[in-house]
Amino acid sequence: MDHSFYIEQINKLKKDREAVILAHNYQRAEVQEIADYTGDSFGLARQAAGTTARVIVFCGVHFMAETAYILNPGKMVLLPEPRAGCPLADMVTADDVEQLKAKHPGAPVVCYVNSSAAVKAVSDICCTSANAVAVVEGLPDEKVIFVPDGNLGRYVADRTGKEIVLWPGYCPTHDKITREQIIRLKQENEGAVFMAHPECRREVLALADHVCSTSGMYDYARSTPAETIILGSEQGMLHRLRRMSPTKTFLMPSNDIICPNMKLTTLKKVYLSLLNKETPVELVESIRVQAEEATVRMMAVAR
Ligand code: 13P
Repeated sequence: MDHSFYIEQINKLKKDREAVILAHNYQRAEVQEIADYTGDSFGLARQAAGTTARVIVFCGVHFMAETAYILNPGKMVLLPEPRAGCPLADMVTADDVEQLKAKHPGAPVVCYVNSSAAVKAVSDICCTSANAVAVVEGLPDEKVIFVPDGNLGRYVADRTGKEIVLWPGYCPTHDKITREQIIRLKQENEGAVFMAHPECRREVLALADHVCSTSGMYDYARSTPAETIILGSEQGMLHRLRRMSPTKTFLMPSNDIICPNMKLTTLKKVYLSLLNKETPVELVESIRVQAEEATVRMMAVAR
């Protein structure tokens, strides 16, 4: 079946179901195109919290759909591909967080939004890549526990000067980007700038001209006078980057900076999701309520 069949059916079903389609910036180009809103984790959470639609079809990974449900439990939140997980989110459990709390009494727990609802439920405040520095800066404490992304936690420590208790989680896709790749691309492309996601390793971030969330990259790419931009993030970004800044050249550190989970969602799966109401996010209400506290605290912090 070609794309036009699915696009037509999706648009029809979307009206029938009173649904909104939210997509992350790493989704396949054709999925980004049928979405009502495409953005970073923070933007998507804000859209999910504010929507009046009855159904949210979330084209992203599990923790993102779960966050939408945490913030808007009255809605049916559908994940077209239930196997779309996040290995980083799976690297810490609520038990791990409890042990960290026992070891560092009094230190608040900041959890990256790339975490399960159970982890959010035992954390004090959530953050995304867009507001991690602001969230930690906004805490009165000098010592903070940060889970699960060690790279992001280290970046926040460097930016805030606070003592951060790190957890050794990492995004396997961003962690692949090496210092050598960036140095070589900069040498081969005079005047090229490097924009990086804070999930990259510290030694890679040290080479960055700009560090920001995925949506922040669209703004930076438009505003920098540089004609060539090295992308320190997932390949799916190229679709809108090229459309928004058509005269600029975007370079990838290598051709394998791809999140396989983000690519699991296809137009066919979005269509089937709307047709069969698959697969709804479900959470134990007591966990959802606790996770909501940490998530709502984050939403109050400007990015
Ligand atoms: P953003 O919130 O910057 O889109 O990042 C989400 C993510 O998981 C990056 O790998």
